[in-house]
Amino acid sequence: MTFDFDTVIDRANSDSRKWRKYAGRDILPLWIADMDFAAPPAILEALHRRVDHRVFGYGQPLPSLTEAVVQYCATHYHWKIEPAWIVWLPGLVTGLNVAAGAFGEKGDAILTGTPVYPPFMSAPKNMGRETSKVALVPRADGRYEFDWAALERAITPRTRLFFLCNPHNPVGRVFTRPELEQVAAFCERHNLLLVSDDIHCDLILDDLPYIPAATLSSAAAARTITLMAPSKTYNMPGLACSFAVISDPKARATFTRAMAGIVPEMNVLGLAACEAALRDSEPWRQELLAYLRGNRDFLARFITEHLRGVKLTPCEATYLAWLDVSAHALPNPGEFFEQHGVGLSDGVQFGAPAGRFVRFNFGCPRATLAEALARMKRALAAS
Ligand SMILES: Cc1ncc(COP(=O)(O)O)c(C=O)c1O
Repeated sequence: MTFDFDTVIDRANSDSRKWRKYAGRDILPLWIADMDFAAPPAILEALHRRVDHRVFGYGQPLPSLTEAVVQYCATHYHWKIEPAWIVWLPGLVTGLNVAAGAFGEKGDAILTGTPVYPPFMSAPKNMGRETSKVALVPRADGRYEFDWAALERAITPRTRLFFLCNPHNPVGRVFTRPELEQVAAFCERHNLLLVSDDIHCDLILDDLPYIPAATLSSAAAARTITLMAPSKTYNMPGLACSFAVISDPKARATFTRAMAGIVPEMNVLGLAACEAALRDSEPWRQELLAYLRGNRDFLARFITEHLRGVKLTPCEATYLAWLDVSAHALPNPGEFFEQHGVGLSDGVQFGAPAGRFVRFNFGCPRATLAEALARMKRALAAS
């Protein structure tokens, strides 16, 4: 390996939200979705260059950055996008909230499949909309899929948007072309705008293609807002740089109008890092994926051998594992593992039933992963 993912970098005394949550306590934080790895060297070099310039006035994306985004979409997703379709955002949560408020009216509903990343449920509420939650269902092999009959039943005349997460946080699915076609047809049939949060799309661990919903057909493109960012893959969420791709001019105008005066200018360091991520960090990403696969497989093996009763949902993508711990009858699994030195996210935060699931972030050096799992083994043995 050219790049180092094994070294444990001390983040405990840094500004890390992940680590500060447990400051002064012996709890390994494996909750919020950032990784404990250094960013790719190309990003560090770009940031050094930008800092050395010494002037930090208001910024705007350089043509070379726009070109990097267009090129990246073409190379990685066979998706030909126009520069004008890109709407820069300081965060994808911002994008979810802007979308929730921009379309339809207060009291309208936004449909989503749960469990899901919490802002999918809070953004509608923030904007005076209802969240219409329909549970994803596990197949016999443990992979989750949409429950189409339940989704049809959930539609009302006030349903306006569908929030899709692809690949899905927390259940780790990469939706297939037939599944996405079903989503697109459903949105078409019920005249829903599709907001597809694809922030994890460059973190596919299995040999599966990522297909942007907007590439399915021109009709799908016209009703889709795709939210993307280099932040998860290249581990730079603290640099606050992401973007929406909106090909329909009317939808784009509505979206940008809702941003006006509220969503801040882009951070110049984030823009510099984004360009280096998309243009110059592919070798790093490939090694990251190999390391994450190794972590996922280590986790799976450890669970089989040592964590009896814990079920790992097949993790096709992301560095987030969705664990079913219901066999242990823990009223509050998140709190239970915290008390035993491992800080996970309780499934309840994602809209899952209480006492059943935890989300485990394995984006960390193998040594940290091994220590966290050893603690979980001791915890369950003592329960
Ligand atoms: C699906 C999804 N969307 C958005 C985000 C966060 O996006 P941002 O930090 O750009 O607001 C996350 C972070 O975990 C996520 O998993």
